[in-house]
Amino acid sequence: MVNVAILGFGVVGSGVAEVLAGHEDSIARKADGLIQLKYILDVREFPGSPFAECFVKDFAVIEQDPEVDIVVETIGGADMALDFTRRALAAGKNVVTSNKELVATHGYELTQLAMEKGVCYLFEASVGGGIPIIRPLSQCLAANEILEIYGILNGTTNYILTRMIRGGLSFETALKEAQDNGYAERDPSADVEGHDACRKICILAAIAFGRHIYPDQVPTEGITGITLADVDYADGVGKKIKLLGRAIRRKDGTVCAYVAPHLVDSNDPLSGVEDVFNAISVQGDAIGDVMFYGRGAGKLPTASAVVADVIDVAKNMGHRKAMCWEPGGKDAVRGTDQLASHWYVRAGVAAETLRAALGGKLLARRGSGEGEAACITNESLTRVELDEKIAGLNPLSVIRVLN
Ligand code: HSE
Repeated sequence: MVNVAILGFGVVGSGVAEVLAGHEDSIARKADGLIQLKYILDVREFPGSPFAECFVKDFAVIEQDPEVDIVVETIGGADMALDFTRRALAAGKNVVTSNKELVATHGYELTQLAMEKGVCYLFEASVGGGIPIIRPLSQCLAANEILEIYGILNGTTNYILTRMIRGGLSFETALKEAQDNGYAERDPSADVEGHDACRKICILAAIAFGRHIYPDQVPTEGITGITLADVDYADGVGKKIKLLGRAIRRKDGTVCAYVAPHLVDSNDPLSGVEDVFNAISVQGDAIGDVMFYGRGAGKLPTASAVVADVIDVAKNMGHRKAMCWEPGGKDAVRGTDQLASHWYVRAGVAAETLRAALGGKLLARRGSGEGEAACITNESLTRVELDEKIAGLNPLSVIRVLN
């Protein structure tokens, strides 16, 4: 018998309890033994809950109970969750989490602590919700040198962009709709400003490239500046605007990682990834390109990944090696300064002025006004080179074109 404690009975925590209870027999078969939910830590009351006898309010009860083998941390954030995770690992308990903020900021320290204590710290659910990506990247693709990872890592922003592209909604209206549907938080900044995608690309980069990459080392731009004019100009040349997280391994071993909107061609499978779905493309030197697609958020998809980690720990109790990577540092990361690409530029100037400056293909959209033009550059340019060319042209929008 393996005993589990869940920290935080929110959307994901309650999903984990439901999946554990609802699939008890099949999980027991796969885990080679019964997995029992012993505690749920939450300060709130849940009268009438089928898990009523499990609730506790003091973490010390879980920490000091030698029967607790696995702690599932679904509190979120990096304050209380960090304290409880450290204490659980220090007490010799395995920890499974969906908390991307904690893994992205403290993953190195926590995996080290897990190794010292001979336990596991697993976080399949921290990237891509229910999509298997952490284990495939660290195990199934282990034979490869990973060259690049990029993808749609945030469901909320993908939903907003899809509604702008397909429904013609403004950013503000699409955001309101996402909030009404329960996808976006009341404070949507972590999603729309790209921080959630940033944390996820940091985790993927650490696993793929072997050093910790901190969120504050990753230039991050969200979708708050995207307008319907940009969506329409992109549509005119068969492209869609998608928020991508991207991490590229450079020849010198450093990593170029960033989050930004991109124009993605309709031939690229990412352009067909809509609504709250996520997709992650990995390029390995032996396998070539491989893509992972599915529900990147939500109660049961995320619980699916958490419970899979619980089963993995239970089945390999005391034997499973902790995942780990090297510490981060300034020398691990290079900025995007040297990353050349074609660019979409919308500027408050006459079309001929923009064409003369950039020499690119002029774009058209319905109802475009006088004194506004957009183009995609002919040349592949670094951002510094582009900025030199568009200085004084009143740029209104500048978006990287994906390869
Ligand atoms: N807010 C996140 C998203 C949830 O929209 O993708 C999953 O991390």
